[in-house]
Amino acid sequence: MDTIVIHGGRPLRGCVHLRGAKNAALPLMAASILAESPCVLHNVPCLHDIFSMDKLLSHMGAITEFTGRYMTLDTTPITTPYAPYDLVRKMRASFFVLGPLVARFGRARVSLPGGCAIGTRPVDIHLKGLEALGCSIELDEGYVIAEGRLRGASFSLDFPSVGATETLIMAASRAEGVTRLTNAAREPEIEDLADFLNAMGAQIAGAGTDTVTITGVPELKGVEHTVIPDRIEAGTFLIAGAVTHGDVTVLDAREAHLTSFLEKLRATGAEVESCGNDIRVNARDDLRAVDLITQPYPGFPTDLQAQMMALLSCADGNGTIKETVFENRFMQAAELNRMGADIELSGNTAIIRGVPYLKGAPVMASDLRASASLVIAGLSAPRGETLVQRVYHIDRGYERIEERLAALGADIRRVRE
Ligand code: EPZ
Repeated sequence: MDTIVIHGGRPLRGCVHLRGAKNAALPLMAASILAESPCVLHNVPCLHDIFSMDKLLSHMGAITEFTGRYMTLDTTPITTPYAPYDLVRKMRASFFVLGPLVARFGRARVSLPGGCAIGTRPVDIHLKGLEALGCSIELDEGYVIAEGRLRGASFSLDFPSVGATETLIMAASRAEGVTRLTNAAREPEIEDLADFLNAMGAQIAGAGTDTVTITGVPELKGVEHTVIPDRIEAGTFLIAGAVTHGDVTVLDAREAHLTSFLEKLRATGAEVESCGNDIRVNARDDLRAVDLITQPYPGFPTDLQAQMMALLSCADGNGTIKETVFENRFMQAAELNRMGADIELSGNTAIIRGVPYLKGAPVMASDLRASASLVIAGLSAPRGETLVQRVYHIDRGYERIEERLAALGADIRRVRE
């Protein structure tokens, strides 16, 4: 397992190109199952999670090609709507194939994804929604067995689940009749999925709001589509720029996708300005502590919570973070405390008492965003060496992170096992 070695305290300076959004590309790949002809995706990030989804689609019979940013997906050869445990367990977003498979084949057998470090990650809302669309759902030996001819229905999600909203939009796009989803998730990745499906011939209105109406169509055709930029990667690089008192510009961003986050970043005293699709952060002075609560979009994104905890660890004053989306997403706190942070956890709230600086130390990554938090903490530490172990977590969501941070002036390298 590779380790990332960081000697911090160096201000990051320069520009970094954003990659396509992992959390948009994954449902887009699953949605290609609905197309009667090949699809082409541009701006696909080169990440382990993308390779996992590619492997699953190929295992089912799809013909895919992924070179650099460009991916072709021909899912017409798929004949067996079956997603095995050993592939789904490696990347829980593989579960996104359930909706498209049952919409296209009338049946599907997909492994339950299981939990992960940040929570039990149930899929009950996905399944209740599919039942509302006329699916019979059976759980057997760790698999979901879904069967039925989908027909339009009204369904209100108990929680604005991103994945469940995506599953139900994909399934409803080929159902007979009209489906109305209320309390739907509003993330930009859902709008990107709806844009892709509508280009394929679907009739989806309201994506990006809490009410989505889908009029099913009998056939969808393959199209070309460009994945939206990764807003979480943008936030991660901006926090790294702020915490090192640097001057960093993320290129090809979408400011509209980051409103709540940028508001909080500005509240720390960092100077943030945007010019077209570029967002620049400048933070010469010490940063101030803030309080934040993670919420479904357009609230503060849970996927930037761990990175902000690293920033607050060495800000002036005491800040709090309330995590309302996942039940166990403070795994980075103990590791940050090993670097000299002063973080106390009380239920779903973290109290962070800012310290003048963190100190380098060997730390262990536990999940994707926690590992990004530890890298940011290492970059901020003016003394000592930070060894972030188990960096396979970070490779799931960030492309060549150490190379791109080094290009901004960081003293960072990867030691391959
Ligand atoms: C997506 O996960 C993202 N992943 C996550 O990003 C992100 O943190 C999350 O949305 C929230 O924004 C992808 O898009 C691939 P949810 P998802 O369903 O869809 C509960 C990252 O770091 N829930 O919105 O799985 C669930 O337990 C990853 O890139 C149910 O109870 O998230 C959680 O507490 C991590 N029943 C909450 O909803 C369900 O059927 C939010 O989950 C579904 C979800």
